[in-house]
Amino acid sequence: MILRNRVEVLHGVNLDQLGRRDPAHYGSLTLPELQMRIGDWAGELGLSVSFFQTNSESELVERLHRGREVADGLLINAGAWTHYAWSLHDALEIAGVPAVEVHLSDVQAREEWRRVSVIEDVCIGTVAGKGPDGYREALALLAARLRQNEEESAS
Ligand code: DQA
Repeated sequence: MILRNRVEVLHGVNLDQLGRRDPAHYGSLTLPELQMRIGDWAGELGLSVSFFQTNSESELVERLHRGREVADGLLINAGAWTHYAWSLHDALEIAGVPAVEVHLSDVQAREEWRRVSVIEDVCIGTVAGKGPDGYREALALLAARLRQNEEESAS
């Protein structure tokens, strides 16, 4: 069992519009449907999960400033901000908890500008191009890191 098991799933700009966006890239689930799945997977891994979505970069930055208070680990799909919002890079650093970057679509196989992530180096891993199942993989990655951190602090 992981004691420090609170995970917050952060969704950035336009991700509230899932279900209306190009299904070829993003599938057909709405954000509430996706969050339900994530909630089930988190439960299976013994994680407690909360969700936050915003279309305001400053709101996401402020949420990250509260990182340690609200979560032991983060999953972040920052949408288009991923590719240019250095403010999120710095805020993730400030959050000071492990974070995994997630994308529904295969960003490396799309337009050139999507191939750059400004948050990659402040995340413990990236899962992209696996649709909703990518969140399951990201949760497992995060659970493993939280367990490892706990074992290290106990020894
Ligand atoms: C996305 C990929 C981004 O390039 C895009 O701007 C999004 C969603 C994804 O989940 O595949 O809004 O992060």
